[in-house]
Amino acid sequence: MGTESVELDGMGSLRRSHRCGEIMSAAVGDEVVLAGWVHRRRDHGGVIFVDLRDKTGIVQVVFRPESAPDAHARAHHLRSEWVLMVRGEIECRSDDTINRNMETGSIEVNVRELRVLNSATVPPFAIEEEIEVDEQVRLKNRLHDLRRPPLQRALRARHDLSQAVRASLNEQDFMEIETPMLARATPEGARDFLVPSRLQGGDFYALPQSPQIMKQLFMIAGCDRYYQIARCFRDEDQRADRQLEFTQIDLELSFVGVEEILAVLEKVTVDGSRACGVELEAPFKRITYEEAMGRYGSDRPDTRILLELHDLTDVFLTSEFKAFRGVVEDGGVVKALPIPNAQALSRGEIDRLEKLVRKELGAKGLGWIRVEEDGSWKSPITKFLGEPEIEAIRERCQVGPGMVIFFQADTRDRANTILSRLREDLGVRLDRVDRREWDPLLVIDFPLLEPDENGKLGYVHQPFVAPVEEDLPLLDSAPEKVRGTHYDVVLNGTELGSGSLRNHRADVQRKILGIMGYSDEEMAKSFGFMLDALDVGAPPHGGFAFGFDRWVMKLAGFDNLRDVIAFPKTQRGQDLLMAAPSSVDRDQLEELSLRIRPQPSKD
Ligand code: AMO
Ligand code: AMP
Repeated sequence: MGTESVELDGMGSLRRSHRCGEIMSAAVGDEVVLAGWVHRRRDHGGVIFVDLRDKTGIVQVVFRPESAPDAHARAHHLRSEWVLMVRGEIECRSDDTINRNMETGSIEVNVRELRVLNSATVPPFAIEEEIEVDEQVRLKNRLHDLRRPPLQRALRARHDLSQAVRASLNEQDFMEIETPMLARATPEGARDFLVPSRLQGGDFYALPQSPQIMKQLFMIAGCDRYYQIARCFRDEDQRADRQLEFTQIDLELSFVGVEEILAVLEKVTVDGSRACGVELEAPFKRITYEEAMGRYGSDRPDTRILLELHDLTDVFLTSEFKAFRGVVEDGGVVKALPIPNAQALSRGEIDRLEKLVRKELGAKGLGWIRVEEDGSWKSPITKFLGEPEIEAIRERCQVGPGMVIFFQADTRDRANTILSRLREDLGVRLDRVDRREWDPLLVIDFPLLEPDENGKLGYVHQPFVAPVEEDLPLLDSAPEKVRGTHYDVVLNGTELGSGSLRNHRADVQRKILGIMGYSDEEMAKSFGFMLDALDVGAPPHGGFAFGFDRWVMKLAGFDNLRDVIAFPKTQRGQDLLMAAPSSVDRDQLEELSLRIRPQPSKD
């Protein structure tokens, strides 16, 4: 199919009078000029129907041999995704041809003049709301994919959200300032993307993982309230809610405490969500990190799921059940997830769950008790339990007939991960979900530091988080107990964003870096300019960053970030449309003082 089958036209002086989906604002009998893509063409012997599509919708245009012989003759050649302009009159459809599934289904346009603005290759898939096509094919043919209504809606939601957030922050006296993309490697959690410097051969810029340090510098520079819709780059493993390149709504403000910042965040979250048709009620529910981990096993719980975990660690310290007691003696925990009225969970299903958590989450096993209608317990673990454990389970899990209780004895992290996954999966599957559609939540009081597997303390969020003021003395005596000022905004079980107050005093910042094991030299190398900056009169300050893509994903009802990003990267970090990354010429490498080692085959 090519341009040879029909002659292409220019637009000449013809200008669109309406968009396809907005045609109902014209009256029957009006002459209209429309432009768009051939969505579908039907040749009914004498008459040819074309569904003409643009981003606003679809309208049927009709080519009749008697009213426009020339246009009708040329319309035979039209194919899907060709680009047209038509001039014609709006006509009512007869009752029997009205299409009630189409917003413009009561009218059609009787074409007088056809201009073919471009031909098109055969589309790889239909431009429809829902298609069953492998995602790789969609990503490779992203232009066709982006023409589909769900992706158009996602782009629209991005626009609406960013505009509303800007308006909200402007109203709250924030100023938008840009920060460099060619920056310096910073010690945030992920691997950096490096950019070789030509002028400083052998040196590298790093693309920012976030504008964290730069926004703190703005506060020190007296900017008072900053924001930016900022691109961030993190070379980390891809998941449904992670991209190599993503966008943050990044903000920072001076002379404030946590409460003022949370008030800003609530307002921005409400204003932004409203622009996408979602009403959230402020103030948001609050929960401490400790409570979230205790009750839900997650620091971003979806609290609409009405199942909770219970801690039984203390009673298993003296238990005869060696598997559980051993874990507790090694510093681990025993936690339970009771599910009332779980008659629907068959034995086979429980066995499948055990296999799943063993395989995917590294569980050592999955203990369970089923409470029969007569109150008796069926379980592979009751034979190991003494009266105190049984009594504690009865009381803390509020045991009743029909209940199934799952147990994990493991490190605190793993037990929480496993039970929180069961809580979410089973909560949804067994419909233990409350009917509220939206569940915004503030998670507060995260610990400042946490031990790694070797017991060495590292930061929980990032190295610049300020401790809660009253915990400052603990930095010397019990640093692991120090609470950070870190807070998260969580929406329906997704972490929308994070922030904190920052250390504005160089001595506190140095002390914390010291606790994390940095020597003076290492501090000077990695954080020298930041520490120096704190010394030029840094005001108290703090801030936050929303994951913009995640927020759009939630509001627009997608489960994958790739659906709300115009040109996303695949799991393997590729842009399939533009074929990036790609090799470059030897000359280019030479200029950058680079040489590439031979690479193993990539397939
Ligand atoms: P943090 O690293 O928590 O904080 O990032 C803030 C938010 O950004 C989103 N996010 C991502 N979205 C998509 N793909 C990714 N790979 C990805 N990584 C993070 C999340 C996350 O909550 N500078 C601090 C913020 C601050 O303290 O002000 C920061 O970057 O929604
Ligand atoms: P065992 O004594 O290994 O046969 O285990 C008895 C039951 O306890 C089985 O149902 C196991 O799946 C379960 N189980 C064993 N270890 C753990 C553990 N660490 N956490 C939870 N359940 C466990």
